[in-house]
Amino acid sequence: MLSQHSRYVPFCHDKQINFPAAMSPPSTAVVYDQQGPPDTVTRLTEIPPVEINENDVCIRMLAAPINPADINRIEGVYPIRPPVPAIGGWEGVGEVHSVGSAVKALTPGDWVIHSAYLPGTWQTYVVEDQSLWYKIDKSTPLEYAATVSVNPLSALRMLEDFVALNPGDTIVQNGATSIVGQCVIQLARVRGIHSVNIIRDKPGSDEVKEKLMKLGADKVFTESELEVKSIKSLLDDIPEPLLGLNCIGGNAATLVVKFLKQGGTMVTYGGMSKKPITISTTYFIFKEISLKGYWLQEKTLDKAAYRCSIDYLLALARAGRLKYEIEMVTFNDFHTALEKAMGKQGSGRKQVLKF
Ligand SMILES: NC(=O)c1ccc[n+]([C@@H]2O[C@H](COP(=O)([O-])OP(=O)(O)OC[C@H]3O[C@@H](n4cnc5c(N)ncnc54)[C@H](OP(=O)(O)O)[C@@H]3O)[C@@H](O)[C@H]2O)c1
Repeated sequence: MLSQHSRYVPFCHDKQINFPAAMSPPSTAVVYDQQGPPDTVTRLTEIPPVEINENDVCIRMLAAPINPADINRIEGVYPIRPPVPAIGGWEGVGEVHSVGSAVKALTPGDWVIHSAYLPGTWQTYVVEDQSLWYKIDKSTPLEYAATVSVNPLSALRMLEDFVALNPGDTIVQNGATSIVGQCVIQLARVRGIHSVNIIRDKPGSDEVKEKLMKLGADKVFTESELEVKSIKSLLDDIPEPLLGLNCIGGNAATLVVKFLKQGGTMVTYGGMSKKPITISTTYFIFKEISLKGYWLQEKTLDKAAYRCSIDYLLALARAGRLKYEIEMVTFNDFHTALEKAMGKQGSGRKQVLKF
């Protein structure tokens, strides 16, 4: 039984049921039966219809991304491990397909995202209680609707919730090429906040720098360019950063701390290098640096604050003021998209499944 969704009919019932009228269509899903390497443990399979109760909404999924945390959940290295068998995916956008008899606020054709976190978005149909769905503006570009609730939301909350920033202040971040990083640059720019950005040393870094500058970055450095005696001299006329965001760990995290102003804060939200953070004692004693962590899942945003953040981000996306590169891939090509997302085929773009 797919235990992450209590109302899924077990696979073994496949052939025996005479379905009553209020049932979802069968769903095609990416299922994994055990944790392990995502490219070997996942399979596309059909899931039988489920009952649509009076308060339920049946959603036809339109698009859902493959995020690093989705991969980690399947690998079994994420703190939350859905019981297996499970369906992959955690966010996405869908269209209302049908509603239960008591549902008044949503009608077929509406676009919705989940109002909290929805395990199992890599499937064609999802049925959940109406209270869990949040209607969004259908003029939003599909790719942003599908990806707003993890990375852009995290970028926004990290800029808002740790340090009081005013126009003219500065933040510093590593992993600036990530979707979170690109959103941080643009959201900071909207608020008149400078951003100093650290990227990996890779072929093509000049092009990457140019792209990030176009998004609104003030400074972009590769890690090796920061092997200098006085890192702060590279800031020129930009104030020292009050807030640092760490997506990577290892040396890239140390570089973020080196840039911080006296009393500054570094928030860690990712560990893409899988390397630990090493901070010199000096930074704690003489610079009073604070180290904090951010986890979207632990954020206790109430419904109104969540909606306000999502509406703000989607309005920016519709206005072309929040953008990032993604690659839409048809759902049937899931395994190709997965390989790219896992870095095996060298595409740097976020993979978004289109159903
Ligand atoms: N804590 C939370 O609640 C939360 C919320 C959202 C996201 N996250 C985390 O934020 C991170 C970024 O997510 P995303 O979806 O924005 O990522 P993404 O768009 O897939 O980008 C991945 C980033 O990681 C870098 N990277 C990949 N492998 C690396 C390695 N071995 N060493 C150093 N850098 C590496 C990439 O650099 P290149 O461009 O050079 O390849 C790129 O900047 C992930 O760790 C994700 O889990 C956490």
